Amino acid sequence: MDKHKINEATAFIKKQFHITPSIGLILGSGLGVLAGEIENPINIDYKDIPHFPESTVSGHKGRLVIGTLQGKSVIAMQGRFHFYEGYTMKQVTFPVRVMKALGVHSLIVTNAAGGIREDFKPGDLMLITDHINNMGTNPLIGPNDTEMGARFPDMSEPYDREYIDLATTCAKELDLNIRKGIYVANTGPMYETSAEVKMLRMLGADAVGMSTVPEVVVANHAQIRVLGISCISNMAAGILPQPLTHDEVIETTNKVKKHFLQFVQHVLKKLP
Ligand code: 6GU
Repeated sequence: MDKHKINEATAFIKKQFHITPSIGLILGSGLGVLAGEIENPINIDYKDIPHFPESTVSGHKGRLVIGTLQGKSVIAMQGRFHFYEGYTMKQVTFPVRVMKALGVHSLIVTNAAGGIREDFKPGDLMLITDHINNMGTNPLIGPNDTEMGARFPDMSEPYDREYIDLATTCAKELDLNIRKGIYVANTGPMYETSAEVKMLRMLGADAVGMSTVPEVVVANHAQIRVLGISCISNMAAGILPQPLTHDEVIETTNKVKKHFLQFVQHVLKKLP
């Protein structure tokens, strides 16, 4: 976690707009469309920002979109950095550090995830109530700068209780059937075996993905309040007869796009 790099990236971004973004959005696979709703957007490609890595997976754009959405000043990541792409944990979470430096106090993290609970269906939206870090590493390893956060951060409530309640109310108001559950992050890039999915279910996980946990760990370290939303894009291995494909992930997220957009915007409107 290089303060000098964070400062350079922050200064570069700050030069291009005059508002202070208060809410960060990380938009997962197929969910980047939300950035298209941002008013008076300023787009900054990752490749132009000093020390920012560049995104590589199809279905992921690589840019920041800054502007207003539902009356809130937001900074959105259209596409994120994944550990499986070969980035270090510090690189994966670098944008969260920059968001904090820009003034962000709340973060909405989204992802496409595989359903582990057998009563989940592709297309379901799930509020993340807690997570299991199954990545075998984490972004806080190494020297700690106490100005940025605690050496041993508390993780007893990584997803803000108040935000979960607020989002639950929003879903009710929209007559949207929202799920709640525990997200487990694996490194990927391969999907799990059926045996692994069975194991994850026994461990208490409801959905599985390859992202989010690193960013949420750093957000907690930086005392940013987090709301996490998974789009169940497919069922994890061993539940349905057919094999898993990335195309299915994109196809499903395309289908729920409308509800997802509605929901996140309603939440934004109500967020403090
Ligand atoms: Cl089934 N597994 C993982 N690890 N990530 C996913 C997924 C499954 N479906 C979407 N993303």
